[in-house]
Amino acid sequence: MTGAATTQTFRTAIVPAAGLGTRFLPATKAVPKELLPVVDTPGIELVAAEAAAAGAERLVIVTSPGKDAVVRYFEKQPELEENLESKGKTALLEKVRRGHDLLAVETAIQEQALGLGHAVAQAEPNLRPDDEAVAVLLPDDLVLPTGVLEKMSAVRAEFGGSVLCAFDIPKAEISPYGVFDVTDTDDDDVKRVHGMVEKPKPEDAPSTYAAAGRYLLDRAIFDALKRITPGSGGELQLTDAVALLISEGHPVHVVVHRGGRHDLGNPGGFLRAAVDFALETPEYGPSLRAWLTERIGTERP
Ligand code: UTP
Repeated sequence: MTGAATTQTFRTAIVPAAGLGTRFLPATKAVPKELLPVVDTPGIELVAAEAAAAGAERLVIVTSPGKDAVVRYFEKQPELEENLESKGKTALLEKVRRGHDLLAVETAIQEQALGLGHAVAQAEPNLRPDDEAVAVLLPDDLVLPTGVLEKMSAVRAEFGGSVLCAFDIPKAEISPYGVFDVTDTDDDDVKRVHGMVEKPKPEDAPSTYAAAGRYLLDRAIFDALKRITPGSGGELQLTDAVALLISEGHPVHVVVHRGGRHDLGNPGGFLRAAVDFALETPEYGPSLRAWLTERIGTERP
């Protein structure tokens, strides 16, 4: 497989951030879950940085009328920057500028949370004529280490069509996931997809490859999104549009990512991510590690 520079297949990344965030209530009554900080940085900035590192030049954030703070987060704040600059707080200044320096941010609005597929469809007017494919990154799914989009791009360059990301999950734990029906290719980490089953019982799962929140989708997805009807949960599902494309002979592959992930969409997963990231920082890591070790050894009365 050749390097990312020669296999760049997308320039636009879409980040759907218009969901209701019900698993994170009551906080999400007022704060969009995409802005909750993993240590000090909102999950959506981590995902924007991943998209930029993979070669995206534009980020289309799909947001809802009540969640404009998500887009404001990426805007310049000249007064704050002048204040930090005048006080010589250069490390903070750099952090504050990071978000808007990453890539050009645009907004699409999803008036009602009608599902992930519907959210992605709202970004179609933002596409450029030469966007033959787009990346979609779910901001509550951290895929670690980053770099899977580069490999997905190389797979599209080789096979065409659309490319999704999968994790190899032990069969007994497969039930909460969307699971791919696949056959092998010459590369152990790349599989051809023939279908998908949502939340199967372990004995019914067609494989142990479960879907993760990274997609590299051919532009044909926008036409497919217009032709699907509400599926699971009464929502327009992105995976139903992918399934429709597969049934019409459109090539779909998965890249099996051998790494970790954090689900930032629920408090338990979010806490793990925060601890994981904090343990890696020189600023908070050593004292957090010492405190956690002591705390775990201490039964509270
Ligand atoms: P989730 O299902 O994780 O988000 O969707 P949610 O619906 O906000 O969360 P819960 O289940 O109520 O707790 C994955 C991503 O898709 C976006 C969400 O914002 C999230 O980033 N999404 C989902 C939309 O933009 N619109 C939708 O209609 C649904």
